[in-house]
Amino acid sequence: APSPKSTPEANANSNNDGKYPDVNWEEMGFSLTPTDYMYVMKCSIGEKFSQGSLIPYGNIELSPCSGILNYGQGLFEGLKAYRKEDGRILLFRPEQNALRMKAGAERLCMPSPSIEQFVGAVKQTVLANERWVPPFEKGSMYLRPLLMGSGPSLGLGPAPEYTFLIYASPVGSYHKRSLNLVVEEKQHRASSGGTGGIKTVANYSPVLNALSRAKAQGFSEVLFLDAATGKYIDEASACNIFSVKGNSISTPPTHGTILPGITRKSIIEIAGTLGYQVEERPVAIDELLDADEAFCTGTAVVVTSIGSVTHQGRRIDYKTQADTVCQKLHEILTGIQMGRLADTKGWMVEV
Ligand code: COI
Repeated sequence: APSPKSTPEANANSNNDGKYPDVNWEEMGFSLTPTDYMYVMKCSIGEKFSQGSLIPYGNIELSPCSGILNYGQGLFEGLKAYRKEDGRILLFRPEQNALRMKAGAERLCMPSPSIEQFVGAVKQTVLANERWVPPFEKGSMYLRPLLMGSGPSLGLGPAPEYTFLIYASPVGSYHKRSLNLVVEEKQHRASSGGTGGIKTVANYSPVLNALSRAKAQGFSEVLFLDAATGKYIDEASACNIFSVKGNSISTPPTHGTILPGITRKSIIEIAGTLGYQVEERPVAIDELLDADEAFCTGTAVVVTSIGSVTHQGRRIDYKTQADTVCQKLHEILTGIQMGRLADTKGWMVEV
């Protein structure tokens, strides 16, 4: 196992001495570039996670009868590490991911790592793969923590053994340009009392059908409506959504059907600080169609403007260019993340 060290000097050196892997950082999109190590920690049901380790990145062994494969007993997280200009590496609000995983684990009857274990494991994973953290402003390292029932469970019930795993990949932009959304008319992402508010793997495969249909028609994303009335917006398949009208910014509340995004939460805070009136409340699709501007947020998509929304065959276009609220918020959020702006909120955690 590696014994990586992170000091400003060490990182600054590796930033300059050509020890990066052979990656074209300029062309990098959001896809997997396998890195050197992954973090793995296991525990049995009724026990606590205690000791994990770094092992070479690769395929894992899983019982064919595992809770994750048979009953979808699994969660994932997504967070990013950024290299600053001075070479230091910073994580964005990793404890928030740890807390969200803990909440999801309770819902799915799984043990979860403590907040300290989670953050410590993320740091170890970044350090072990340090050469894959892109240079300053050339992208980020995406960390994917997974928590799954890995032991066998034939009858329906919590699995007897659990695996917490983190792998890493350098990434660039998820979307290269503004989004053209189509409103899904038949399928829904989440319903009251369900699991829409946790990051279970089982929330993501059900959107693929609508997403594939949308992409086949040239759209970039699907916008789901609430399952109860079909009148309010929920979220897109991979991100939260905001609507802007004048000085007012609105986004659906996280009362169970909306994924409580960490970027979402951060944008709400930044927008409030800038003096916008920010409202977490049900947003009717008609209101979105009448908005001045709209944008999506997420760890992968960051803050991406919405160019158009198509609903029942009617397309509404929004402004996406200079001087948008989206652009202002994007500038501040990425400024904090990349280290161009002071981290006055204490969001960045040094690795
Ligand atoms: C993220 O934004 O990190 C996510 O987990 C969304 C995923 C569908 C890419």
